[in-house]
Amino acid sequence: MQSTTDIVKPAGFDLILFGGTGDLAWRKLMPALFQAFRHGSLPEGGRIIGVARDDLSDAQYRSLIASRFRDVEGPKQPSAAEFDRFAALLHYVRMDLSKAEDYQRLAATLAERQAATVVMYVATAPGLFTTVVEQLAAAGLNTPHTRVVLEKPLGHDLESNRAINESVARVFGERQVFRIDHYLGKPSVQNLFALRFGNALFEPLWRRETIANIQITIAEDLGVEKRGNFYDSTGALRDMVQNHALQLLCAIAMEPPINAHADAIRDEKLKVLRSLKAWTPETLSQHVIRGQYSAGNSGGKAVPGYLQEAGVPAGSSTETYVALRTEIENWRWAGVPFYIRTGKRLASREAHIVVNFRPTPHPIFKAPIGAANKLVINLQPRDGLELHLLAEGQAQRNTGAHLGGSSVATQTLAPVQLDLDFDKRFGNERVGAYERLLLDVIDGRLNLFVRSDEQEEAWHWVQPILENWDAGFAPPRPYAAGTWGPSAASAMIARDGHCWSEEA
Ligand code: BG6
Repeated sequence: MQSTTDIVKPAGFDLILFGGTGDLAWRKLMPALFQAFRHGSLPEGGRIIGVARDDLSDAQYRSLIASRFRDVEGPKQPSAAEFDRFAALLHYVRMDLSKAEDYQRLAATLAERQAATVVMYVATAPGLFTTVVEQLAAAGLNTPHTRVVLEKPLGHDLESNRAINESVARVFGERQVFRIDHYLGKPSVQNLFALRFGNALFEPLWRRETIANIQITIAEDLGVEKRGNFYDSTGALRDMVQNHALQLLCAIAMEPPINAHADAIRDEKLKVLRSLKAWTPETLSQHVIRGQYSAGNSGGKAVPGYLQEAGVPAGSSTETYVALRTEIENWRWAGVPFYIRTGKRLASREAHIVVNFRPTPHPIFKAPIGAANKLVINLQPRDGLELHLLAEGQAQRNTGAHLGGSSVATQTLAPVQLDLDFDKRFGNERVGAYERLLLDVIDGRLNLFVRSDEQEEAWHWVQPILENWDAGFAPPRPYAAGTWGPSAASAMIARDGHCWSEEA
């Protein structure tokens, strides 16, 4: 909810990347840091210190990271001179994260210069979070100007999440802890906050009296790719619903915060999570659909099913799809269904929130069945808004016998839409999610990070679903890759008299 122009440059920073040769650093963090460098928003004189077990010199680490950018195409590819300037920021420290003496070596590297801000970015397996944090404290590296960034998943259930948060709280104050949910860094999600809290237009309509239902979709067309092993112990509920989808739900349903400060925003999100309808055995079986993709066709080519993917154990019951229905029990939303769905190997890659308004109370025109206003907030691949209205389609003469014989025109309405494409309007070279969030950490802004109580509340809400599945209920329903998921998800929403957006 801040503009990109209010980024303050601190005097200097050390960013320590635990997992410096890992998948996240490779795919997301290094490209984001490079973009920040290119945009001139990385504070001068900073160091990015990769940490991993491999025995590498600074020079070897730089050339490893250089190879990351070699196959980048188009304008995002750095020139050799540009990369050299960026590479000057890169350093490397070899560490075994379980060994106290290795943290002493890191401490010695950090003591070479007293950076204004020290960021410990823990992009490792979550099983190591507690070890890293405790060892940082033992080495005296939890100073007041240290910030720690924790990547999801933070735990695999409520209990493990609490354990991590408690061990972190023993070492760092809550204001030093930056729990990343990269969806909050997406420009489209910033726009959602701007739409709701920067405009007065929709607020009077944003309530149960006018809204019939809200649908949140995060669909991916890719499968689990090379992450079969990791994914199998995670599944769609933990990977996407507990964090990204619930954060979107909070953004769409929260009350206006009293200001744009981190705690004001997080207090309101927490209230939404606390108001989510508690699960019952009946809603667990009727309102949660669990799916797993089988072989099918994606993007015109045959693709294997989840069970055939590398790293996935035979007979796995891990879900690659979840659709669910919930309600928010407060005055604004009571009785309005909120539907969430997410999955891999679906028909296309798209994320959007559809706000379906109620139809007019008394129709005087002819209109297509079920036609009503809707607001579509497109999150990706394009970032934009569509407002669906009804306008005159064609006028038909009518003798109007029922109106005393006078002749009236019966108008037939047709759907039309107003489109706003933010990529076209603002250019699609906007600050990316990780770039935005990394700069926020360096600058100490917590607005777009998740507080521990919020995160625990989200785990608390998904926990009964996990327990239901662990008890052997609701084994995943198969759906063919390249489709919109199990038909049971359509049946679930149809029972309420609604349908998913692509079925309308
Ligand atoms: C990550 C999940 O958090 O989000 C991945 O672990 C998923 O499984 C990814 O693919 C989706 O992010 P985006 O930004 O591509 O929608």
